Amino acid sequence: MKPLIVGNWKCNPTTQEKAERLFNSIKEKIKNIKNVEVVICPPFVYLSKFGEGHLGLSLGSQDVFWQESGAFTGEISPLMLKNIGCSYVIVGHSERRQYFAETDEIINKKLKAVISAGLIPILCVGETARDFQKESSKKIIKKQLSFCLRDINKAQVSTIIIAYEPLWAIGTGLPCPSHKVEEQLLLIRKIISQKYSTKVGQKIKLLYGGSVDSSNAGQYLKNPEIGGLLIGNASLNSQEFIKIIKLASLVIS
Ligand code: PGA
Repeated sequence: MKPLIVGNWKCNPTTQEKAERLFNSIKEKIKNIKNVEVVICPPFVYLSKFGEGHLGLSLGSQDVFWQESGAFTGEISPLMLKNIGCSYVIVGHSERRQYFAETDEIINKKLKAVISAGLIPILCVGETARDFQKESSKKIIKKQLSFCLRDINKAQVSTIIIAYEPLWAIGTGLPCPSHKVEEQLLLIRKIISQKYSTKVGQKIKLLYGGSVDSSNAGQYLKNPEIGGLLIGNASLNSQEFIKIIKLASLVIS
C-alpha cells in the first residue's frame, strides 16, 4: 500500500489567492513524485475552486453533515462534496470535538453518511493530555471506536481510514514518539480484528497526526504499522509539505 499523506489546512489561508497559490505550488512540485497518495483538505469555500482530476493529488473535506439535503442552515452534505470532486472526508477531528461539541454519536452519523455517499472517511481518534497522564488512553480509544463504529458493518469498515491523533500532540510541537504511536495503532488493529475479522484488522489503513514536520516525518514513515500521516501546520508551507511527501515516496511498501 502506498503511504497516504493528508494535509489539513484547517481554517487557513484567509484569501482565495493565497489558497490557490499554495495549492498550485504543491500540485506543481508533486508531479514527479511517485508511490505516494496525497490528499489536500482545504476549507469548504476553496474546495470547489480546486475541482477534480489533479495528477497525484486528491481532495478531501475537513468535515461534513450527515443528511443528503434539506433545511439545515450552514451545512454541507456528502453528496455536495462528491459532486465537486472530493474523495476523502475527515470525520471527528479533535478540534470539531473540542470547539463544536461533536460527540461520538454525531461522528457515527457522519461516518455512515460519508460511506454511503461513496467517499472515503478519515476517522480521527485520540486522547487528551489528562487521559495520557492518567494512562487511560487505551480506554479512551476503545470507547471512541466502539461508539463511532456502531452499526457499521464489515464491508463498510473496510473503506475507513483511522488516524490516531493524540490531542496533546496536535499543534503543540510535541509529537508522540513513534513507538507510542505504534502501541496505539496495534490496539486499534486489535479492536477492529475483534469486532470484524483479523483480515479487516490487518488491512485497515492507519495514520498518525500531531506536530508532524519534515524533521520527524521519517521516523513515522519507516514504521510499518503507520500507513501515512495527517498533517496540519506543516501542510501550509508547500516546501515543508513536499519534503514530507518526498520522504513518504522513499518508503518501500
Ligand atoms: P498539526 O495538526 O500537524 O498542526 O499538529 C495535525 C492535525 O490536527 O491533524
